[in-house]
Amino acid sequence: MNRQSWRGPALALMLGASAGVLASTACAQAPAAPAARPWLDPKLDADTRADLALKAMTQDEKLTVIFGFFGADMGAKYKRVAEALPGSAGYVPGVARLGIPAQFQTDAGVGVATQGGEPNKRERTALPSGMATTATWNPKLAQAGGAMIGAEARASGFNVMLAGGVNLVREPRNGRNFEYGGEDPWLAGQMVGAQIKGIQSNAIVSTIKHYALNAQETGRFVLDARIGEADLRTSDLLAFQFAIEDSDPHSVMCAYNRVNGDYACENDFLLNKVLKQDWGYKSYVMSDWGATHSGAKAINAGLDQESAGDAFDTQPFFKGPLKEALAKGEISQARVDDMARRVLRGLFASGVVEKPVKIAPIDYAAHAKVTRADAEEGVVLLKNDKGLLPLLSTARKIAVIGGHADVGVLSGGGSSQVYPIGGRAVQGEGPASWPGPMIYFPSSPLKALKARLPGADIQYADGKDRAAAAKLAAASDVVLVFATQWNGEAFDSPLTLENDQDALIDAVASANARTVVVLETGGPVLMPWLPKVGAVVEAWYPGSEGGEAVASVLTGAVDASGRLPVTFPAALDQLPRPVLDGDPKKPDDLFAVDYTIEGAAVGYKWFDKKGHQPLFAFGHGLSYTTFAYDNLKAEAKGGALTVSFDVRNTGKRTGKAVPQVYVSPKAGGWEAPQRLAGFSKVELAPGATTKVSLTVDPRLLATWDAKAHGWSVAAGAYTVALGASSRDTAAKADVTLAARSLPVGPIKP
Ligand code: BGC
Repeated sequence: MNRQSWRGPALALMLGASAGVLASTACAQAPAAPAARPWLDPKLDADTRADLALKAMTQDEKLTVIFGFFGADMGAKYKRVAEALPGSAGYVPGVARLGIPAQFQTDAGVGVATQGGEPNKRERTALPSGMATTATWNPKLAQAGGAMIGAEARASGFNVMLAGGVNLVREPRNGRNFEYGGEDPWLAGQMVGAQIKGIQSNAIVSTIKHYALNAQETGRFVLDARIGEADLRTSDLLAFQFAIEDSDPHSVMCAYNRVNGDYACENDFLLNKVLKQDWGYKSYVMSDWGATHSGAKAINAGLDQESAGDAFDTQPFFKGPLKEALAKGEISQARVDDMARRVLRGLFASGVVEKPVKIAPIDYAAHAKVTRADAEEGVVLLKNDKGLLPLLSTARKIAVIGGHADVGVLSGGGSSQVYPIGGRAVQGEGPASWPGPMIYFPSSPLKALKARLPGADIQYADGKDRAAAAKLAAASDVVLVFATQWNGEAFDSPLTLENDQDALIDAVASANARTVVVLETGGPVLMPWLPKVGAVVEAWYPGSEGGEAVASVLTGAVDASGRLPVTFPAALDQLPRPVLDGDPKKPDDLFAVDYTIEGAAVGYKWFDKKGHQPLFAFGHGLSYTTFAYDNLKAEAKGGALTVSFDVRNTGKRTGKAVPQVYVSPKAGGWEAPQRLAGFSKVELAPGATTKVSLTVDPRLLATWDAKAHGWSVAAGAYTVALGASSRDTAAKADVTLAARSLPVGPIKP
C-alpha cells in the first residue's frame, strides 16, 4: 500500500509518540467582555462581532488566524507546535489580547480521530460510517450522532471538527465513500446537514468537505474533474447547497483535486462565485491538508485559511509569500481583511468564543447507546428468502464463519479513523502504517449472538480453512458468514471481496443453502454467490457497538430498517467508467476524469437512464414486517409541491418504513427519468397507519438556467411516484406544475 509521501515519514514517530491527545492548553477561560472589547458581547450578531474584532486587529494578528499548523509530530522535518493538542489534525493560534481562542482541529465524521499519540489516550466512541448513518434515512439519528461526537470533541479540547463529508458517490470504488452520504443530493444533504447541526450544537465549528468532486482517491492530488456547470450544480454542488442551507457549517474545506482545470482550493468558480456569491456563504474556507498550491491565486479565488501550511504544502503560502503578494499588489488588503473576518465570523457564529472548549470526562456508556441506535437503523437487509431472518430463538445449531466476527467489527482507514475503546480486536492485518492500521472495534457479533440466543449451540470458524467451514455449515441449522472489505483514505477498492471471501461464501452456501451473508464494507460490492445464499445483510462499518447492533438486527430484537443510500451494481460494465481512471503507481501524473459522461445522472439516475438492472437498487431494504402505501395525493399550491400519503403496517410486528417519493417530468428534460424528491422514516405497530406529508424542495423539480443564473421549473405534467425504493414505486399520482423561476441562493420551500 502506497501512503501519501507527505504523511509517510511521520507515522512511525506519531505512533510512538509519548504524548497523549489530551492537553491542558485547550482549557482557556471564557474572556470577559469589557466595554473596550465589544466583539465579545454574545448579544451582537456574528457579523457585527467579526467587524468589530477585525478593526481592533493588527496586521500580524490578522495573518495569525488564517494560517494553520499540523498538530502531530512529523519525523525530523516537522515538529508539532507546542500549543497543538498532540496527535491532532491541526492548530491555528488565537489572539489572546482580543479574546479570540486558538483553533484546535480534529477529524472527523465518525468521532474524534487522532493522527498519533498513545493508543489508550486516543480511544473515543465511534459512530457507524457516514454511509451507514445515511442508510438509516433518519436525520434525527444523524443529528444525535453528530451531537455525541461533537460533545466528545469538546470534552477532548477540540473546537473545530473536520466533519461533514458530503461528496456524492460518483465512483462506487472510491475508498472514502464510507465517510460520505451516498449518491443522492437530497438524501446526502439532509443527512450530512443533520450531522453538522448536531456537531455544532456543542458550540464548536463543523467543516463540510471536500468541496468539490473529490470522488475518487486514485490521483486525488492531481486529477482534473471535468464537468459542465449545469450538471455540477444539479448534482454534487446541490448536495453541498442543501447541507449548507440546512446546517450553516462554520467552515468549508476545499478538496485536493482540480475542477475544470483549477485546483479546488484556488478555484474562483467554486469558492468565490458559487459558494460565496451565489450561496451567500459568510464564514471561512480552509484548505485540505496539502491542498494549498499558491498564495495570490488561492487567496484571490476565495481560500481563507491555509491548513497545516507548515507541514503539508510546498511552501507556507499564507505566511511570507502572502506578504510579498500584498507588497506587490497581487492581493489586496481588503481581501486579507475579508479572510480574517470570515474566520472570526465562523468562530463567533459557533459560540466557541464565549464557551471555550474544556477537557472534561466523557460519558462513554451514554454515548454507546447513541452509536448503537444509529448502527441498528443503518443495517440494510438486502435479501431474505423464506424468512431466514430474523434468527428464530428455536434455531439450535448456528455456525458463525469468518470476518473476525468472534472478536469485532471492521472500521474504515485514514484520517477519520477513531481508535476503539478497549483496544484493537485484531492485530497484524492490513498495512501497519497510515492509512492503516486496519482496525476492528472490539464489539463481537458472536458474543452478542450468544447472549441473545442462550438456547442455541453457536460454533465459530475463522473461514481460513474453506473445507472445515463448509463442514461446519453442513452440520448447522443456519449459517452466518461475515465478509469484510477494508476501505480507506488514499486508495480505491475494487468491488470484489478480497482474500477469497467469495469462494468461502460459495463453499459454505453450497454446503447449506440456509446461509446468511453479513457484509462489513464501505460501500457496494459484487455478489457472485447471491443466488446461492438465503439472506444478505449489509452492516457497513457499524462503529463502536457494531457487534451488538448487528446481533440486534439478526435476531429481530429491532426491525431491519436501513435502506441503501447507494446503488449496488450488478457488474462493472454498468458504471459510467468501467475502468477507474488514473494509476495508483503514478501519483504525480496529471489526468482528467470525465464526469461529463454521466453529468448529473449520478448513481440510480445513471442506472435508470441507461436501463441497467442493478444488483440492489438505491433505496432498497427489506423489513421484518410489511407496509402498504395508500391515498397518495400530490398538490401544487402557490408553486409548492406537497405530497401526502398513508403508510400502514400490514405485517405482524412493529417495524420502520422508509417511504420514498420520486418525481419525473412527463416531457423528460432532466438528467435522468426520476429524482428522489422526499422521504420519511416512520415506526408503526402492526395494523397501525400514519399519514405523511412532504413539501418538495423546488430545486428538485427544476433545471439549471444559465441565462437566468438560477433555477427554472418547466410548466407541465409530472408524475409523483411513491414506494419502497427507486425501483419499487407502485403508487403514482399526476400533478401539473406552473412555470417557476428560483434564485441561485438559499430558498425556503
Ligand atoms: C483529509 C481530510 C482531513 C485532513 C486532516 C486530509 O488528508 O483529506 O479529510 O480532514 O487530512 O487530517
